[in-house]
Amino acid sequence: MALIDTYGRRINYLRLSVTDRCNMRCSYCMPAQGVEKLEHKEMLSYEELYRVAGACIAQGIEKIRVTGGEPLVRKGIVPFLERLSRVPGLKELVLTTNGLQLEEMALPLKSAGVARLNISLDSLKPEVFARITRGADLKRVLAGIEAAERAGFVNLKINMVVMRGVNDAEILDFAALSIKKPYTVRFIEYMPTLLDEGWGAQSMPGSEILARIAERYPLLSMVGAEMAGPARNFKIEGAAGAIGIITPVSGHFCESCNRIRVTAAGRMRGCLFSDQGVDLKPLLQSLDPYRLQEEIRRIVTQKPGRHHIAEPEAEKITVNMSRIGG
Ligand code: GTP
Ligand code: 5AD
Ligand code: SF4
Repeated sequence: MALIDTYGRRINYLRLSVTDRCNMRCSYCMPAQGVEKLEHKEMLSYEELYRVAGACIAQGIEKIRVTGGEPLVRKGIVPFLERLSRVPGLKELVLTTNGLQLEEMALPLKSAGVARLNISLDSLKPEVFARITRGADLKRVLAGIEAAERAGFVNLKINMVVMRGVNDAEILDFAALSIKKPYTVRFIEYMPTLLDEGWGAQSMPGSEILARIAERYPLLSMVGAEMAGPARNFKIEGAAGAIGIITPVSGHFCESCNRIRVTAAGRMRGCLFSDQGVDLKPLLQSLDPYRLQEEIRRIVTQKPGRHHIAEPEAEKITVNMSRIGG
């Protein structure tokens, strides 16, 4: 079974947000006053998440990325992942985390069948890191990354959201990290999810990020693997790891987008930047599994061709990343 949308894109990747809670409050993700939290009963239960995932897999989803908020703050996440990883037809179960709890959880995650981890890390300087995350401790994340390596995770991806005047002075330090360590260090264009007035001044196009790195290090271009995601990958000659550039704003990767997502509140969406979607909760009350599968196909059919966030005249929506999971 394959899910093909009206633009001929094969949809085989589900981003599943399991909670809107987070133990960081990154400035690019939430406003200073925080965001309204879902009540526990508004979130999908593990049983419901499992049914949604199963219906998606039955329709042709092969890769599931579990996101949040911060997925590791939800109680009972490890047994849930363990059960999910065993669903026949699922080729890859992966997770995006801020790394704060990895020191304790890396090994259980590995044993649960999580194949790979993407870890957000926006600065290597404790005070800049604390400013961006509004108080988090860099040391814990670095210890978490090491614990992930010790637990046997390979091909770790490190996500850095680049913000001019905030952490752009560290672009070369992050590039150098890919020389020493076997990580794929990915530089992400800051997306205007908060419709924040400061965004324009802080945003930096991927081309500028790449030029800064290329000025210092000769880069080799790498070819992307299947299901590899939105990054264009490069390698510094002789490096242990690689570099990725993710350009959702300037050179959006919509033409090859292969994903749908489910928010922590149980809404399925075809696109990060479209509020079109369907509330799965009422469907989960029904005992007819085909209703759910039909709705999944409808979301795929309605998936927009591309987003318009970089066009000044287009209608904008605020994107609650901690509910949607990026
Ligand atoms: P891989 O499969 O490892 O390549 O994962 P990924 O890069 O898709 O996932 P990750 O959670 O690490 O996200 C990296 C960045 O890409 C984050 O800033 C996400 O918000 C952004 N991103 C992921 N999917 C989409 C998407 O469909 N559209 C847009 N615009 N951005 C996305
Ligand atoms: N722009 C770019 N990336 C973002 N993320 C969260 N908010 C934004 C934004 N406004 C990233 C996080 C994490 C991933 C899931 O999404 O850093 O790595
Ligand atoms: Fe930061 Fe991710 Fe938490 Fe948002 S959900 S505050 S980006 S760690």
